Amino acid sequence: MIQFSHVSKTYDNQFEALNDIDLFIDKAEFVLLTGESGAGKTTLLKHIYMEEIPSVGQVFVCGYESKYVRRKDIPRLRRKLGIVFQDFRLLYDRNVFENVAFAMRVTGVRERIVKRKVWEVLAHTGLSHKSSFLPSQLSGGEQQRVCIARAIINSPLVLLADEPTGNLDTAVSLEIFSLLQEINSWGTTVVVATHDDHLIKRYHYRQLVLHGGVLVKGGNQSIKPKTWKEPQWSL
Ligand SMILES: Nc1ncnc2c1ncn2[C@@H]1O[C@H](COP(=O)(O)OP(=O)(O)O)[C@@H](O)[C@H]1O
Ligand SMILES: [Mg+2]
Repeated sequence: MIQFSHVSKTYDNQFEALNDIDLFIDKAEFVLLTGESGAGKTTLLKHIYMEEIPSVGQVFVCGYESKYVRRKDIPRLRRKLGIVFQDFRLLYDRNVFENVAFAMRVTGVRERIVKRKVWEVLAHTGLSHKSSFLPSQLSGGEQQRVCIARAIINSPLVLLADEPTGNLDTAVSLEIFSLLQEINSWGTTVVVATHDDHLIKRYHYRQLVLHGGVLVKGGNQSIKPKTWKEPQWSL
């Protein structure tokens, strides 16, 4: 599903953010990407959604290969992925419903289907009663739920979440995490970048540990779920 082969990334200012990364993440896995601030977690996620292309090596994601991917293929790749950004990137002048609907409308789906699906996803993420609220009228945990709702609206094969519990207290973090676990239980591959020690210790998921751009643990050992099926999107 996701593979990195000898990936190094040197940014334009000559800073090497990733150094010779090899990793494999299987379908329906749940992995934690950990490491200190500045270790390269966000950079690694950006390579999965091909916002960044390696300076050396190759990234393979859902049948796309970084070496040969064309700019016009990238939106099609992103449609297979759900991305929860560290800085939310919500549309602050639109309400919750519109934020989630927008992500589906851009795929050209008929409005009737968009409406039905948005209501389903909002119910699932516990946001039905906040559908007409603007992001600024929500708590941090609720804003994060909107980001997750928007990320799953197109039934992705892979969900990437960058520090999804970043500014949340422990109880709310656990709620967000159980939502991610539920999404994983439908067969979606989930990759969570976090430096939240509390969560890392609490859940015994496979850890990919980055340190100064080097993957110091977890790269090639993929834990295959016992029974893997195509994602069973109930939404
Ligand atoms: N566009 C960029 N240009 C130059 N250096 C960058 C860029 N983006 C990130 N970096 C550097 O790469 C390192 C890793 O950053 P990042 O991937 O954001 O780490 P993390 O998400 O683990 O905190 C940091 O030292 C950061 O300053
Ligand atoms: Mg980061």
